[in-house]
Amino acid sequence: MKDSTLPDQLDQMITGYWVSQSIYAAAKLGIADLLVAGPQTAEQLADATKTNSGALYRLLRALASVGIFTENEQHEFALTPMAEFLRSDVPGSKRALAMMSGDEQFQSWSEILYSIETGKTSFDKVFEKPIFEYLSDNPDKGQIFDQAMTGIHGRETGDILNAYDFSGLNTLMDVGGGNGSNLVNLLQHYPEMKGILFDLPQVVERAQSHIEQAGLQDRCQSIAGSFFESVPAGADTIFLRHIIHDWDDEKSLTILRHCHAVMSKNSRLLVVESVIPEGNDPFPGKFLDLVMLMIPGGKERTAEEYKSLFEQAGFELTRIIPTESALSIIEGIKQT
Ligand SMILES: C[S@@+](CC[C@H](N)C(=O)[O-])C[C@H]1O[C@@H](n2cnc3c(N)ncnc32)[C@H](O)[C@@H]1O
Repeated sequence: MKDSTLPDQLDQMITGYWVSQSIYAAAKLGIADLLVAGPQTAEQLADATKTNSGALYRLLRALASVGIFTENEQHEFALTPMAEFLRSDVPGSKRALAMMSGDEQFQSWSEILYSIETGKTSFDKVFEKPIFEYLSDNPDKGQIFDQAMTGIHGRETGDILNAYDFSGLNTLMDVGGGNGSNLVNLLQHYPEMKGILFDLPQVVERAQSHIEQAGLQDRCQSIAGSFFESVPAGADTIFLRHIIHDWDDEKSLTILRHCHAVMSKNSRLLVVESVIPEGNDPFPGKFLDLVMLMIPGGKERTAEEYKSLFEQAGFELTRIIPTESALSIIEGIKQT
């Protein structure tokens, strides 16, 4: 029998951005931070955010209907458990993620047909330069991007720690390690391990304070550079999370070959990505793959595709270790 809820389900999918863009507006205006001190009316919030109180009321009423903020009988809005994550200063904050998704990413999604027609990045069409150049040229956006990565991927580090035994490793280099939050977590979990954070100059500069705040400056070195030029030596484990998926096969091979050049026979390569499964089942990596198509120009890959990439770069793919999240750890050793 035909499922009568299908049209409603489809309506929800079609209009999904109504909710996401409303969250973006509230995140950008910093509403959750303003509500930390206690409930406020739309007028009070409009004063603080220099917005139109009637329009702001309608935004907050809509968000309250999906569990983000709640309105009381005095027409004051307050935080809900979900809205807490839109605060800037909480562990696991999603504020930067909402700001990035609703701005550059949303604009890139609006040009999805361009990417489907040409196979090229819609981001470059809209912003006239590649994403990482754009982030370097706009450090405020770069900072939001770094924080958004923690917002979306931060919890994955716990899953990685549960799935993989890093004991016995001497030095782990997080290539493209962003603001350092992943490396800081790994080093906190393994007090004997040393770390190297490698990323673009401005990113490394921003990460320094994170490493210092964690008191890890003696165990963690930061090195600035581009993995398209070279990768620093000195680590027995090279870790790349959400790096290879940013790039096409040719650029990915350049990165992997640069890693290969500084590794010894006993070193390990750990590529952490969503490995796309066969079949039609829901899997977050299938939509993340479209983000990769439109924004940096990369792709999510299947196990076979990773095996082939590893082999072409001189690695043997030894294991693919699933984690509790949609991520897997793809382990390799030097083959040649
Ligand atoms: C998708 S983010 C992933 C960040 C982090 N590994 C994580 O899992 O949250 C990609 C990272 O690659 C870095 N990156 C981009 N181009 C780079 C380059 N040419 N050399 C070194 N790092 C680069 C970016 O600055 C960013 O931190």
